[in-house]
Amino acid sequence: MAERIERIGEHVFVNADCVRGAIAHVRDGSVDLIVTDPPYGIKGDRLDRHYNRDERFVDDGYVEVDARKYKAFSRAWIAQAERVLKPGGQLYVVSGYTNLYDVLGALRATRLREINHIIWKYNFGVYTSSKFVSSHYHILYYAKPGGKRTFNLQSRFALDETAGDGRSLNYRDREDVWTIKREYKPGKRKNKNELPKALLQKLLAYSSKEGDLVCDFFLGGGSTAAVAIGMNRRFIGFEISERTFSSRVPDLRKIIPGSLQETPPAPHVVRNRGKSWSPSEVEHLQVRFRELHASGATQGAIVATLSAELERGAWAIRKRLRSSNQS
Ligand SMILES: C[S@@+](CC[C@H](N)C(=O)[O-])C[C@H]1O[C@@H](n2cnc3c(N)ncnc32)[C@H](O)[C@@H]1O
Repeated sequence: MAERIERIGEHVFVNADCVRGAIAHVRDGSVDLIVTDPPYGIKGDRLDRHYNRDERFVDDGYVEVDARKYKAFSRAWIAQAERVLKPGGQLYVVSGYTNLYDVLGALRATRLREINHIIWKYNFGVYTSSKFVSSHYHILYYAKPGGKRTFNLQSRFALDETAGDGRSLNYRDREDVWTIKREYKPGKRKNKNELPKALLQKLLAYSSKEGDLVCDFFLGGGSTAAVAIGMNRRFIGFEISERTFSSRVPDLRKIIPGSLQETPPAPHVVRNRGKSWSPSEVEHLQVRFRELHASGATQGAIVATLSAELERGAWAIRKRLRSSNQS
């Protein structure tokens, strides 16, 4: 297959098999963070039936891996992942259950160190009537030994930030079972198995910094790329399908760098943390949001400004903005 490369600024997208692409384009020890979602090796998954989704908008270029080759396939790409990571660099692999043992076996054949095994629970599991409903994926979190691992403890909640019930938001956010909805994007083009942006934002917020090099071995719809660009990280990724690559990479040109960047909450200066919102605060939030948005400020800058003006954490501001936009 002839290889094609697209560049968007400093970000690189390669239409090739990820193993060949990584060998050709990624130096040893150069990547800070890999977040990736390999094909699950399940033929004829009939996801459409379960998700009640309009398949006309789902890209049909998706390349599946033969289940009989899944072990060798996992070993090959995970060996490349290990090679390209910096010492201290991190890897998150999203996996279903069917071939999980092959992914775990491949990870354990490397020198990568297991940090966490996260369960991601999504809404609308695969419906069954004679057994329990499958409604989770596994996120395998590993790191390369030999260097300092980035873990931004207060990237989303300050340690002293509490919910209305007095429980620590930071602790709750760092428990290893996550409930995050899938995105449905009715009427928009999508990959068969697109990861939600909220999930990717969480991974990148904790495990990377601005300017870090983020890599996705299996681009698909490009959601890891979109979030990396939106959070001011550098990006390189691979997609074997020409059809998926051609249909999805142009959309990534529209992502505004930094538009998803979030200012970490400043501990001890968020006076109104945990207090209920007064009607005048809600009005302030809505009026100022419109003004700042009209002035061309990025989402990150808007949240930082509102956070300072209302003396609330960035998370509380974003949450309130979301509920205001939905009402
Ligand atoms: C589960 S999807 C990735 C979805 C992606 N995370 C997203 O949010 O849209 C897996 C993708 O890997 C691609 N793929 C399969 N084998 C590949 C290989 N050897 N190298 C690169 N991409 C491959 C498939 O075509 C598919 O688009």
